Amino acid sequence: MESDDLIKAGDQVLLIDEKGKTWLVRVDVERKISTHRGELKLGGLIGLGFGSPVETHLGRKMWVLRPSIEDFIMKARRPTQIIYPKDLGFLVVRSGVRSGCRVAEAGTGSGVLTSLLAWIVQPEGHIYSYDVREEFIKVAQRNLEKAGLAGLVTFKVKSVVDGIDETGLDAVFLDFDAPWMAVENAYEALRGGGIISIITPTYNQAERTVSALADSFIDVETVEVFLRRILVRPGKTRPAARMIGYTALLTTARKILG
Ligand SMILES: C[S@@+](CC[C@H](N)C(=O)[O-])C[C@H]1O[C@@H](n2cnc3c(N)ncnc32)[C@H](O)[C@@H]1O
Repeated sequence: MESDDLIKAGDQVLLIDEKGKTWLVRVDVERKISTHRGELKLGGLIGLGFGSPVETHLGRKMWVLRPSIEDFIMKARRPTQIIYPKDLGFLVVRSGVRSGCRVAEAGTGSGVLTSLLAWIVQPEGHIYSYDVREEFIKVAQRNLEKAGLAGLVTFKVKSVVDGIDETGLDAVFLDFDAPWMAVENAYEALRGGGIISIITPTYNQAERTVSALADSFIDVETVEVFLRRILVRPGKTRPAARMIGYTALLTTARKILG
């Protein structure tokens, strides 16, 4: 087993029980967590391999896993509306963001998109994250610190409608209520061919955004992503009865030079 596979003090770990309930915790020798399945002393995890089973003081079994970026995102403190994994996945593929990219986004909000972008662009890339409300930036900063990604992000208390300070960016993401007002600034900040991604909750916001993109961007596309869970059981596999009906419209486009 690689030494990286062994749990150390200070690691973030994900505990999961047999029903799939999860707890994201930092391993601290002094700490224990209390769950409906009993108490677990976190110091006892040190030296175990990720994937190992552990038992609470009531003898109930759990497993200790390495948290994924989705675990950090979905367990983060969320004072604002966030972008959900089904939409994040599409946006990331469509935006072409990869390791080493320089990217601007607004607004920071809870830092959910920020976390995913930072995770993708590491180790050499960088995220410039703008929000007009400092209190949200503070929450996002703490969420990024928890995930070990804060060093990849510069937070700015500034409206992107007033300007984006960086130039030559690979991608810009806009997730606030009037994105069309920042399209010109995003254009100036992007490199030729750079991709803009815009998240809008309503159809009329998408209409105004697409109009604003018309003259200086190409390959403009707006989509809605559907996700339906499937209950797989021998002889009676079928879709789950409940699903999230709607989250947001996702618009992407590429900057052209003339
Ligand atoms: C829906 S939240 C963003 C959520 C974020 N994308 C996430 O994944 O956690 C919208 C944010 O945009 C910020 N905002 C509103 N107008 C803005 C502007 N002109 N420039 C930058 N941020 C802005 C708000 O303060 C709010 O935090």
